[in-house]
Amino acid sequence: MKSFEAVFGGVPAAIGHAPGRVNLLGEHTDYNDGFVLPIAIPQQTHVAIRRSASATFTLYAAALDCMATFTHDAPPSARFATYVYGCIAEARAAGFEIPPLDMHLSSNVPMGVGLSSSAALEVATLRALRTLLNLPLDAVLLAQLAQRAEVQHAGVRCGLMDQMAASLANTKQALFLDTRTLERRLMPLPPESVVLVLDSGITRSLATSAFNQRRAECEEAAQRLGVRALRDIGEGDLSTVEALDDPLRRRARHVVTENARVLRAVQCSNPKDFGLLMNASHASLRDDFEVSVPALDRLVALLQARPEIYGARLTGAGFGGACVALCKSSALERVAENVLNQYAQEGHSGAVLVPPA
Ligand code: GLA
Repeated sequence: MKSFEAVFGGVPAAIGHAPGRVNLLGEHTDYNDGFVLPIAIPQQTHVAIRRSASATFTLYAAALDCMATFTHDAPPSARFATYVYGCIAEARAAGFEIPPLDMHLSSNVPMGVGLSSSAALEVATLRALRTLLNLPLDAVLLAQLAQRAEVQHAGVRCGLMDQMAASLANTKQALFLDTRTLERRLMPLPPESVVLVLDSGITRSLATSAFNQRRAECEEAAQRLGVRALRDIGEGDLSTVEALDDPLRRRARHVVTENARVLRAVQCSNPKDFGLLMNASHASLRDDFEVSVPALDRLVALLQARPEIYGARLTGAGFGGACVALCKSSALERVAENVLNQYAQEGHSGAVLVPPA
């Protein structure tokens, strides 16, 4: 892995860091103005920058050993560089002048598994720009610019959860966020519990198009129900949702029940009750929202069958990638090893992602 000095000579003038996140509860609710409960993971992305002597931006991604160049008018083609270009373009659209830069990216956030490596890159990039150029960006505005970078330039019509988590969450407390009002609160995990994240080994395929399709279905359901967003339907109004045709009925039912689960989880002081909500979330994502795959269902079932696990579910957008479990603190390593052995015997290849090895 080449350092900033090895690639560019000299030292960076500013560095930005940001963590990945794992979402504990509240999946596919953020773009419906709903509630989410992510927590930061220990893995981080670092972006080191300085002003460039040339007229172009030069970007080196250490994890990929890959170089990209671009200007304001000539966007890069490499995917990783698109996120950075998007942040710069959105910072300019917000009225800030961004000079050409030398940029060095390094990260140990697992990529493409639902732990928000893209949001970590966006937030770290904007933090580095803020330091170098003294930009008046608070944590929320920074997250909003990062989200716009992803929607406008990476083509994912995501909500605000990932960027808010990268900007505001920490590894000890979960971030309860109302994505409509942006009211938020940091809250501890239930007592004597820890977060375990396992990779299913299934690469996410067609995730962007399927994600955008789900979002469109939710918007259509809201329109048919005559509300601004599905957030405006409470659990008590589920009968109106039942009158919709499939698949809109099931998509809306997931969002309505998932929002209710998050609101219940923030009242939970007991890890068992919290875990049951996670299990119910997985069933809803699998059956109503249809964003799981069989191997992920299997890994989640193996986790849920263990007495040391309070609850488990897929995490992130789905279609493969990671799952998250709430686990008894004392049992973490043993459970992870046993579950992964069983999963391997069935021909799959999983791995522990959090806590990092
Ligand atoms: C992706 C998006 C988020 C959110 C989740 C699903 O991570 O970037 O905005 O919609 O999927 O909960």
